[in-house]
Amino acid sequence: MPSALPIADPAPLDGLLPGGVADDAASRDFGVYLHVPFCRARCGYCDFNTYTNQELRGARRQDYATQAIAEVRLANAVLRAADLPERPAATVFFGGGTPTLLPASDLAAMLGAVRDTWGIAAGAEVTTEANPDSVDLEHLLALREAGFTRVSFGMQSAVPHVLATLERTHDPERVPLVVGWAREAGLEVSLDLIYGTPGESLQDWATSLDAAIAMAPDHLSAYALIVEVGTKLAAQIRRGEVAMPDDDLQADLYELADSRLAAAGYDWYEVSNWARSERLRSDHNLGYWLGHDWWGIGPGAHSHVGGVRWWNVKHPAAYAARITAGHSPAAGRETLDPATRQLEAVLLRTRLREGMPITGLVASARIAVAGLIADELVDAREALRGTIVLTLRGRLLADAVVRRLVE
Ligand SMILES: C[S@@+](CC[C@H](N)C(=O)[O-])C[C@H]1O[C@@H](n2cnc3c(N)ncnc32)[C@H](O)[C@@H]1O
Ligand code: SF4
Repeated sequence: MPSALPIADPAPLDGLLPGGVADDAASRDFGVYLHVPFCRARCGYCDFNTYTNQELRGARRQDYATQAIAEVRLANAVLRAADLPERPAATVFFGGGTPTLLPASDLAAMLGAVRDTWGIAAGAEVTTEANPDSVDLEHLLALREAGFTRVSFGMQSAVPHVLATLERTHDPERVPLVVGWAREAGLEVSLDLIYGTPGESLQDWATSLDAAIAMAPDHLSAYALIVEVGTKLAAQIRRGEVAMPDDDLQADLYELADSRLAAAGYDWYEVSNWARSERLRSDHNLGYWLGHDWWGIGPGAHSHVGGVRWWNVKHPAAYAARITAGHSPAAGRETLDPATRQLEAVLLRTRLREGMPITGLVASARIAVAGLIADELVDAREALRGTIVLTLRGRLLADAVVRRLVE
């Protein structure tokens, strides 16, 4: 079941933005996110805004690219009306759901609309997420031809019983195959892994890490399994059929990931992300973490421009109805006040390897830094140089660090 939308102000039907969003816009990059809200089946742990064929209530996958392209045009009109400077897309990211369930020609048409409307910066990262089940060499070649530069595969684990608990449908032996095809097509490769699945041992996780490293991806994300409210996994845990992920074990698994990935030449640059070099970090995600502007196209997609944040109606049928009527699909929005912007900057920037300048903190937070150093959550030497960088222990307790900085 997809999660609920936040509660905030209604958004106007014309989508027009309030004044002030263009202030300092030239100092911020502009990224484009395109959400593709379709999956063949829902994995038991996932609450992303995605729908199987049985859940589409009349919306049709084959109509989706046209609707998304209509939102690109609307977005351009809204940005122009707000006096934003013309900025080419610094990054483009197709996420889901499973974007590669759409034919490559649809993804190419959507990317083409972004290019025709805003332009795409030279050398920009253009990524699509993909389920290993949903691509073959021909599809990947067509994506490269269309201008994609990178593919992010949902590998999750290499161990069959872990994949079964996660209700993943792909065969783990297919992952090296699709990674090889992506390389052959000239695409950079990222792999998503999940750790802490009930029943997963340290040895299972080592097997998955080694399998991922053996494929030599350019980039890796490793996420602690979160039991999302309303998912099938949450119900299984409530009924006692599946054990709750264990916090201490998850910490051990994270430490193992950190040491194995470092030994294999991957540097952490965000709590859950590692890359083979600085160039191979995810520029698109860095745009989110650094508070740049982005427009999220599609059902349930979130956008942020100059301190105004909004999100679209969630269901593909509701989205189709809004777009077909010529209305903005935005469901709600909020204007972030300076205190909230500060809090979010702390929340996001402290998770980055580059850290957060101590001078960017309010006085009470600066005082908290001494306690965080004493508790070995923040690196003492980096703090002396004026930056908050988390230690390994700090990364494990990143949420607690943020609480101490903002309370
Ligand atoms: C939209 S999905 C990726 C693309 C594709 N749909 C797939 O699953 O292969 C993004 C990633 O979020 C992660 N993810 C989703 N739900 C999660 C959860 N409850 N806990 C931890 N990670 C999760 C998974 O690693 C997944 O690959
Ligand atoms: S394939 Fe990806 S988006 Fe779809 S349900 Fe599974 S994890 Fe979620």
